Amino acid sequence: EDAALQAHFDAVIDADGKVEPRDWMPEAYRKTLVRQISQHAHSEIVGMLPEGNWISRAPSLKRKAILIAKVQDEGGHGLYLYSAAETLGTSRDQMLDALHTGKAKYSSIFNYPTLNWADVGVIGWLVDGAAIMNQIPLCRCSYGPYARAMIRVCKEESFHQRQGYEALLVMMQGTAEQKAMVQDAVNRYWWKCLAMFGPPDADSPNSVQGMRWGIKRISNDDLRQKFIDATVPQAEVLGVTLPDPDLKWNEERGHYDYGAIDWDEFWATVNGNGPMNKERLATRVKAHEQGAWVREAALAHAAKQQQRQQK
Ligand code: ACO
Repeated sequence: EDAALQAHFDAVIDADGKVEPRDWMPEAYRKTLVRQISQHAHSEIVGMLPEGNWISRAPSLKRKAILIAKVQDEGGHGLYLYSAAETLGTSRDQMLDALHTGKAKYSSIFNYPTLNWADVGVIGWLVDGAAIMNQIPLCRCSYGPYARAMIRVCKEESFHQRQGYEALLVMMQGTAEQKAMVQDAVNRYWWKCLAMFGPPDADSPNSVQGMRWGIKRISNDDLRQKFIDATVPQAEVLGVTLPDPDLKWNEERGHYDYGAIDWDEFWATVNGNGPMNKERLATRVKAHEQGAWVREAALAHAAKQQQRQQK
């Protein structure tokens, strides 16, 4: 019987169909999805912190309103993604526990500090720009709930990317100090954004199987290249220099060549030793503990309502 179920699953994957929560799926497929979707959810939740730091210091009411909306969107994306992962039979408590105890990964990019207001713009332009590049192909992922979640998430990310780019365009029309702030933020974030796409294909243990299962549609290196090719002209319009002396159009390849990424620094950060890992995790754990009364109140309210309905 297992062979028949496996054959049916393979046929769905081969035909580019969708796998839904109640369908039979191989344990390894389920495990990979829980891994990727929960890491993605954690990234959205931890991703609220670097920018959240700037809500109280936004330079105008307009910028503050935009930033609050954006950070709230990230929280929504996280909750949406936890729900998608729950359809695979894992619980939110389990996932949160893995995050809070430091067992779960989340995107490397959120372990760097946000030092000035231009960082908020650069996160929108480059970090969210990289996130969109990675997430658009996930809208075609073979697991239905994840693919559908990505459609809405990508629409909101597109607003995030544009608000960041627009904030930077305004700063670039300002004083020499403002322009220098933008350049400084780009210098600090550029290489970290390239690493967001994950290790080179040859060093990516999950890629071959992820591609076979139709979870990943475009490889880490190909997405990185697409991001670079799309971003160079945007940097020119903005008037900033991308901090890579090897960045050069290659006529033959039809792509930009680029310099070497510091993978040692990437892995140190992924493994918990980046500049902000400890602080990010401590902030998240504290927020969870301080929110305990909200969860208790919501549960008590739900129980009361259920009792009333039974009467
Ligand atoms: N930060 C932290 N960990 C990373 C990163 C990164 N930038 N890139 C890769 N890794 C981890 C992988 O999770 C994997 O660890 P694991 O096996 O313990 O789970 C390991 O490094 C090896 O990488 P790959 O074999 O390439 O892993 P995978 O096939 O899962 O590809 C990728 C990694 C591209 C990040 C994929 O998981 C993905 O597309 N995830 C969904 C998108 C996402 O999480 N975005 C979050 C950032 S965007 C945002 O929130 C704004």
